[in-house]
Amino acid sequence: MPNKFYITTPIYYVNDRPHIGHAYCTIVADVVARAHRLMGDEVFFLTGLDEHGQKVQQAAQAKGVPAQEFCDEMAPHWRELWPVLNVSNDDFIRTTEERHKRVVQAILQKLYDAGEIYQGEYEGWYSTRAEQFLTEKEMGPDGKFPAEFGEVIRLREKNYFFKMSQYQDWLIAYIRENPDFVYPDYRRNELLGFLQKPLGDLCISRPKTRLAWGIPLPFDAEHVTYVWFDALTNYVTAAGYGTPQFEKCWPADIHLIGKEILLFHACYWPIMLRAAGIPLPVQVAAHGWWTRDGQKMSKSVGNVVDPVKVVEAWGADALRYYLLRELPVGSDGDWTDSNFARRYNGELANDLGNLVNRSLSMVKRYCNGIVPQPGATEALDSELQTFAAETVKRFADRVAKLELNQLLGDIWELVRKGNQYVDQAAPWALAKDPAKAARLGTVLYHLAESSRIISILLTPFIPTTADKIRAQLGLGQASASLADAGRWGLVPAGQPLGEVAPLFPRKG
Ligand code: MSP
Repeated sequence: MPNKFYITTPIYYVNDRPHIGHAYCTIVADVVARAHRLMGDEVFFLTGLDEHGQKVQQAAQAKGVPAQEFCDEMAPHWRELWPVLNVSNDDFIRTTEERHKRVVQAILQKLYDAGEIYQGEYEGWYSTRAEQFLTEKEMGPDGKFPAEFGEVIRLREKNYFFKMSQYQDWLIAYIRENPDFVYPDYRRNELLGFLQKPLGDLCISRPKTRLAWGIPLPFDAEHVTYVWFDALTNYVTAAGYGTPQFEKCWPADIHLIGKEILLFHACYWPIMLRAAGIPLPVQVAAHGWWTRDGQKMSKSVGNVVDPVKVVEAWGADALRYYLLRELPVGSDGDWTDSNFARRYNGELANDLGNLVNRSLSMVKRYCNGIVPQPGATEALDSELQTFAAETVKRFADRVAKLELNQLLGDIWELVRKGNQYVDQAAPWALAKDPAKAARLGTVLYHLAESSRIISILLTPFIPTTADKIRAQLGLGQASASLADAGRWGLVPAGQPLGEVAPLFPRKG
């Protein structure tokens, strides 16, 4: 029986336009999902959209359209982006779907019946212009709220609260006893630090008079659900909560998120699940944020990287490679166009492109495009074989630890080893001497095999290129597996190559 593996991204705010930060999160999740498929796991990979709440309601009003219509117009910007980036999600959830509303209401009802939700009063500073409660964060040093909020009044309203505070000690103990629950470890420590302060209960409703665009509470239709309560629940909706499928799919193995939403995922969410008697996700992994040329990306500065433009100029694989290679999952990254071009030309075109292209071009030139029979192996050949086998062996552990840029580093060591092998074995010299034909066969066979193994290891990161390498090797469309990367000799001698062409044309 294959292992199941369930990975999620955050659901993105439908009213935003996708940018490189969203693309990053989804691509990292895609690499992990594809790596698990390569290892034979049965993967369920979820992404989707967060569609309720104040901002969506306001944006729809500003456009003069009903909120649902607004969401329906925006959703394709997201849904259609993922295939462009070669993202292989299995489901795409929208929080306005019926399947989701049902689950949110079922869980709310369950918590209400169990006495986990009570009615209370909320009092705070309310901006009539922004139509929202303000916190101390928004308050200026003079104790006043900035003018953009217009009139700020003291407002009291009836609301529902979730008894979160009673779970605080349990959560602290859980995080301590399960060191892998929050990744990376410095974020876990940050969270434990935060949890030193009392948590308080969570206000989970908004009166309909103030916010209509949300899921009504099943026990009081005059209120809608707080948007994070609604949003987090998407992960169990898509797993089939309330159906037999749920047992097979849940718990999620990884919720991949950005660092700024860790509190919601590693504190509110586990407590919600615990209170509802639902098992916890195995891991919440928080990645860092991208800046551009050292600056925060923002529409007003006009420095936002548009993933579609990058794909048009460089291809999806180049984008995926850069995002994954540049930084470890967890750290912040800084996008610079020059660094992108440097990695493209140096690592993709030169290191990888050259290895495959010169190896296969020599098979064309010296062996009529037919993979030769290998002869006796020498120390140089076995060294390359062993190096490849060791790289394959490290793969699963690297993936389990989310060490994806280090894994790319390992694969690049193998690519460089392959290039050194070409230089040392010098097939062009062997080709000049008919007495060395057997040796030439061995060398070119080793290069074809190394290219095959490298193509498998690269499948999660640069899937289109990986397929191209296999097609150039004349291998069929059969999907690659990590087990095949661990076996030497699967390119059949005597096999004709496909069409050989550069993988990454150099760019200025
Ligand atoms: N809707 C909520 C998530 C609900 S999940 C139950 C949300 N949406 S978001 O669209 O604002 O952000 C989604 C993700 O994009 C976050 O994980 C965030 O970290 C990521 N990024 C947004 N800008 C980013 C960068 N500049 N760099 C990297 N990721 C960033 O929050």
